[in-house]
Amino acid sequence: MPDINEAANSGSPKPEGRNTCEMKITVIGAGYVGLVAACCLAGSGHQVTCVERDDAKLKLLKRGQSPILEKGIDRLLGQGLSAGTLGFSSSLPSHLDADVAMIAVGTPCLLTGSADLSFIYRVVHDVKAAARSPLVLVMKSTVPPGTGARLIERYLKDTPIAYVSNPEFLREGLAIEDWYHPSRIVIGAQTERAAALTSELYAGIDAPVLVTDITSAETIKYAANAFLATKISFINEIANLCEAVGATVDDVASGMGLDPRIGPDFLRAGLGYGGSCFPKDTRALDFAALNHGYDFRLLKSTIEVNTRQRVLAVHKLRQLMGSLEGKEIALLGLAFKPGTDDTREAPSLDIAHLLHEAGARLRVYDPAAMEKCRFLLPTGVTFAGDVYSAAAGANAVVLITEWPQFIAADWATIKETMKEPYVVFDGRNALSQEKMNAVGFRYGGIGRTSGTPTSG
Ligand SMILES: NC(=O)c1ccc[n+]([C@@H]2O[C@H](COP(=O)([O-])OP(=O)(O)OC[C@H]3O[C@@H](n4cnc5c(N)ncnc54)[C@H](O)[C@@H]3O)[C@@H](O)[C@H]2O)c1
Repeated sequence: MPDINEAANSGSPKPEGRNTCEMKITVIGAGYVGLVAACCLAGSGHQVTCVERDDAKLKLLKRGQSPILEKGIDRLLGQGLSAGTLGFSSSLPSHLDADVAMIAVGTPCLLTGSADLSFIYRVVHDVKAAARSPLVLVMKSTVPPGTGARLIERYLKDTPIAYVSNPEFLREGLAIEDWYHPSRIVIGAQTERAAALTSELYAGIDAPVLVTDITSAETIKYAANAFLATKISFINEIANLCEAVGATVDDVASGMGLDPRIGPDFLRAGLGYGGSCFPKDTRALDFAALNHGYDFRLLKSTIEVNTRQRVLAVHKLRQLMGSLEGKEIALLGLAFKPGTDDTREAPSLDIAHLLHEAGARLRVYDPAAMEKCRFLLPTGVTFAGDVYSAAAGANAVVLITEWPQFIAADWATIKETMKEPYVVFDGRNALSQEKMNAVGFRYGGIGRTSGTPTSG
């Protein structure tokens, strides 16, 4: 299996050893999941049509421009378009002639916390209406346990459509890498034939394939996200405990992560998780549990701790600099994590609103996500051109997203342009505390106070 750059760079969109069986595939939804799937499947030599109802995105895509920031996507998109294996359309054809229809539309959160499946119902209805010959309907969107069974019962009985739950585990920023090198491929299929056809989509990809029933496949996706979210909230709890007892969470996390049963990933204390998946999927799983009469208390705590971390940031800033009224504060990072322009449920948004309410004057900078935030931030926020102009004249800098260029910035120069009390609040424990102190900053992190316990 070639690596992502080889796959994206090679003149041939069909890396050696890939599919023996080329299929006609319709992908519905050209977002982070659908566009990556469409480009990678076209790169494997399948004939892919991607349906996207958003006109602005569609125009960009037809011109070969990706509406999302994702490493390697532009090249794959260009190659698919010029090879003729990838095309875009605003709607399904009235007669759908495809081997596979793959659903990758959004499943956002309703006010109750439950997943909003209205886009899904619409698409399944449309696919059913357009299908003329046997096809496999592959659900890539994250849908709550039991959804597939309900869709089959409600729409797909007595049709030539076989349903498959094939949850997506990609990480934004590494999505193409993850497509070619997934940790596992989960297939929950209505029929053996549908399972076999779905696994053909991944021919040549070296990863364990786990075939399950549909509801188990749906549950795997939620359980995996809930577990990772819980790991993040757990280390944030430990970080807060570290402050109380006088320990350093970095060392504690290192010591924990060396245990192979625990592992080092998702053990960095900070402002908590955001993004398009963990927040909504934890809430949706909690709701699904409740809906089935089960109170998932651990998951509730995970969610509560994550919310608290955002509020904690504001308390910590007050501890470092007193009242926030009239203070100039620079927020570095708006995307929910580095390497993406996705700002869905990003901690930056909540923190900006909390600081604004506390009377602070805000300037913000992010290398990729400024445009996506333009109408999501409080009024009066200044959008800076880089780290240095964001920080110039500020009383405090808050690191919200650990983009490498922020870590590598010239912090001595930044300090020279700032005003008292020269605060750096490192919301990701990504900067060197010693270095910041040496430069002369009043530094605050999360769980990084080694020394005297706060009480007891
Ligand atoms: N983003 C991730 O990292 C990620 C990872 C794994 C799973 N998922 C899941 O995959 C699903 C999609 O996520 P996403 O981040 O790609 O969402 P997204 O919002 O980026 O993309 C969804 C796209 O579907 C389009 N769409 C909606 N209804 C449509 C219709 N009827 N016809 C054509 N296009 C339509 C929207 O315009 C949008 O462009 C969600 O269920 C999500 O939970 C996301």
